[in-house]
Amino acid sequence: MCGIVGVTGKDSAVSILLNGLEKLEYRGYDSAGIYVNDQNGQDYLVKEKGRIDDLRKEVGANVQGSTGIGHTRWATHGEPSVANAHPQVSADGRFYLVHNGVIENFQDLKNDYLSDVEFTSQTDTEVIVQLVDRFVTKEGLDTLAAFRKTLSLLGHSSYGFLLMDKEAPDTLYVAKNKSPLLIGVGDGFNVVCSDSLAMLDQTKDYLELHDGEIVVVKPDEIKITDQQGNAVERDTFHVDIDAAQADKGTYPFYMLKEIDEQPNVMRKLSQVYLNDDGQPVINAELLDALKAADRLYIVAAGTSYHAGLVGARLFESLANVPTEVHVSSEFAYNQPLLSKKPFFIFLTQSGETADSREVLLNVNEQNFPSLTITNVPNSTLSREATYTLLLHAGPEIAVASTKAYTAQIALQAILAKALGEADDQPAAKDFDVKQQLALVANGMQALVDEKATFDKLAKADLLKTPNAFYIGRGLDYAVSLETALKLKEISYVQAEGFASGELKHGTIALIEKDTPVIGIITQQNTAGLTRSNLQEVEARGAKTITIVTDALAKPDDTIILPTVDERMTALLSVVPGQLLAYYTSLNKGLDVDKPRNLAKSVTVE
Ligand code: F6R
Repeated sequence: MCGIVGVTGKDSAVSILLNGLEKLEYRGYDSAGIYVNDQNGQDYLVKEKGRIDDLRKEVGANVQGSTGIGHTRWATHGEPSVANAHPQVSADGRFYLVHNGVIENFQDLKNDYLSDVEFTSQTDTEVIVQLVDRFVTKEGLDTLAAFRKTLSLLGHSSYGFLLMDKEAPDTLYVAKNKSPLLIGVGDGFNVVCSDSLAMLDQTKDYLELHDGEIVVVKPDEIKITDQQGNAVERDTFHVDIDAAQADKGTYPFYMLKEIDEQPNVMRKLSQVYLNDDGQPVINAELLDALKAADRLYIVAAGTSYHAGLVGARLFESLANVPTEVHVSSEFAYNQPLLSKKPFFIFLTQSGETADSREVLLNVNEQNFPSLTITNVPNSTLSREATYTLLLHAGPEIAVASTKAYTAQIALQAILAKALGEADDQPAAKDFDVKQQLALVANGMQALVDEKATFDKLAKADLLKTPNAFYIGRGLDYAVSLETALKLKEISYVQAEGFASGELKHGTIALIEKDTPVIGIITQQNTAGLTRSNLQEVEARGAKTITIVTDALAKPDDTIILPTVDERMTALLSVVPGQLLAYYTSLNKGLDVDKPRNLAKSVTVE
């Protein structure tokens, strides 16, 4: 989704902005722009459709300044174009604004206040910058008061705003509601960004902002005020990410690096959350709150939802607690009847997903306890839930999530073991999660070492096909959904994950000669049934590929997975699907890390 950067007090503002925008490229965007002011009466607005590289060329060597703002845009209102790219500018050329979010009532505001203004873009953002200008020039308000007044008109809209006024060229006006925004604190300069990754080479000390706050940022000053204008004091927090961790090194794409990192993520989670005896080390208060619950509700979107489907099996089998899994965008506006003592678990790599946050806001209003499991410390969902557990997977940059998915499953396994142990559940006592994670890590390593096999399979069976199916039952069905999502999002093959028993109830009509059907078989009780379903599609011309644990393997199977506990197989069976998707995309010559239309962090509903 849209990315925001800003800096004040550095002569190298242009390169800081462009480098920052480059770091945010992974979030997904279709156009970009910067505005800089050199404090000597000279300012520049440069916008470009397409990549940051194109913007960089357009900026050239002459554009310079010490204060500026920049933006990557993921189109919501109006097509990707230079006119719709940000910064948006007021009609008189005095105010410049970048925005991440959606202004729900922009049309009403346009009608009510700006019917005489000629708009140059189709964006909701332009309405905001024109409004600020209107309140300054027609009502005589100063810029801060005009900004505040504008914000008071926006209802429940979501926004991260960064505003500049030509007449106060060293000042950044900042505000946020629902969309992420941080202030980075420097020595004689300050920065603003929607993700600290953008500015890690400038500073590691950040101030979080709360919804409704307004901040005035100058080179030597940061003034935070609440909605009523009262001053707010806030301590900085230190971001402990090494900028090099977010670098892809010698890998052609981040996705491959992140797939390769999974064995180490398993080991890291084991180190952080298990003691030497293999016992979980989990906050006692969190465990008590979980124990008090009569039902767990896992809420998530996309890949994280798929990780939740696996997690539910772990909580039910190890901790004996009923667990439901919900898609957050559905749950937010169609809350089902809840049990008497619900406990909510939010799975979110980014910690910023607007759909999931909407549910968390409702949950908080109803005073239910919650846990966010996320990869990003200090992210919105982590701050707003009762408890947080971190995934420790390191920055995930590729849009298609891989290591965060497996980290989410592994951490849920640890948590389910902890909860089961705390509740004297025999299944949990017998489950050696430390040993299992060690086996999983080794198994993952064996799979990622076989890259040539997946490259070959992708070329032979997936490159030319318009569609493909992943099938399985139980946990294998959950992984089918995830592996199909991986294939469709980065290779644009129409791929679907199906419960294998469901195929013959309709979908089998789509099977034609050479349609690829990939069967996942890791569960003893359903292995025979899925094999029969594979035969049914073969009889209709499908080309089948099997991903099978060695305990259940037959001579003609395609990919054999090393043995782990049946409850943990998802951690291995997903890896072939990740690699098949990667090589299909790569061999099609697509941009693996930045698939079309997608954003890494989905901050609008
Ligand atoms: C797909 C993918 C998305 C995310 C989804 C939720 O590869 O990454 O489906 O899983 O947008 O994002 P988070 O986990 O950040 O809440």
